[in-house]
Amino acid sequence: MNDTATLSNFDLRDEIKAYWSARAETFDTQPGHEIFSEDERAAWHCLILKHLGEGEGRAALDLASGTGVVSHLLDDLGFRVTGMDWSEQMLERAREKARTRGRSIRFVMGDAENTMEPDDSYDVITNRHLVWTLVDPKAAFVEWHRVLKPGGKVLIVDGDFVNVSPLTQFLKRLATAAGRIGLIKDARHGAASPEMAETHNRILSQVYFSEGARAEAVVDLLRAAGFAKVTVDKDMRAIHRAQKKNFSFFKGLERATQHRYAICAEK
Ligand SMILES: C[S@@+](CC[C@H](N)C(=O)[O-])C[C@H]1O[C@@H](n2cnc3c(N)ncnc32)[C@H](O)[C@@H]1O
Repeated sequence: MNDTATLSNFDLRDEIKAYWSARAETFDTQPGHEIFSEDERAAWHCLILKHLGEGEGRAALDLASGTGVVSHLLDDLGFRVTGMDWSEQMLERAREKARTRGRSIRFVMGDAENTMEPDDSYDVITNRHLVWTLVDPKAAFVEWHRVLKPGGKVLIVDGDFVNVSPLTQFLKRLATAAGRIGLIKDARHGAASPEMAETHNRILSQVYFSEGARAEAVVDLLRAAGFAKVTVDKDMRAIHRAQKKNFSFFKGLERATQHRYAICAEK
């Protein structure tokens, strides 16, 4: 196979997969990803309970599970959890963490847009920070509707990281400047190097929600896929308050001023 063929076969989905695989090693060291306080854990539990209720042995599919942070929250609440991700590096860490913590969470490799799971097989589907990076969210939501049991619920936690308010932009600039002179360490806590930041921006410019995943646009697509009783919850204050303790001042404020939300919908 020559270089040209290799390049042309490496599509956007491959690039997204490679990007997250490269971030797997440090993912759990970053506040906002892994949970670093019992306050934050409790706030996440509250959000899940509010929308999905206690697990009581119900089957949950945590899509784009990464290192399994949300999968563990669901397991805490008594769900029978399958975590699915397409990055082997993320899955390795997720399996290792579950082993260390003595949890029996099943982690499988798969594509959130085409899960290959049977029809009507899950009571709930969750995902955090996946929707903004989906190549084809319309197809994905139809797929999630197919896989859920009648009456099953999807809970999406995401945000619009493109259209940020002037205040958020200002805070981001301050955080970047403070990071440059070594005042804070988490200015670029996500993509850790300029190359990774460039890859992130290239991916973002090509995905469906390249203009930002506004809650209203996500709701429209969910309804078009057949979901009902769609609710948007923008009250993430308890989570952000708890996370703030592990962020620099600017980073905490930046997060709290972004358009972040949880959307719940029913089949
Ligand atoms: C920002 S991380 C979020 C991980 C986890 N949900 C969390 O909140 O801690 C994004 C994850 O989505 C996964 N991902 C992105 N698109 C995917 C897809 N179509 N199918 C499966 N996994 C996907 C990546 O491999 C990565 O692990």
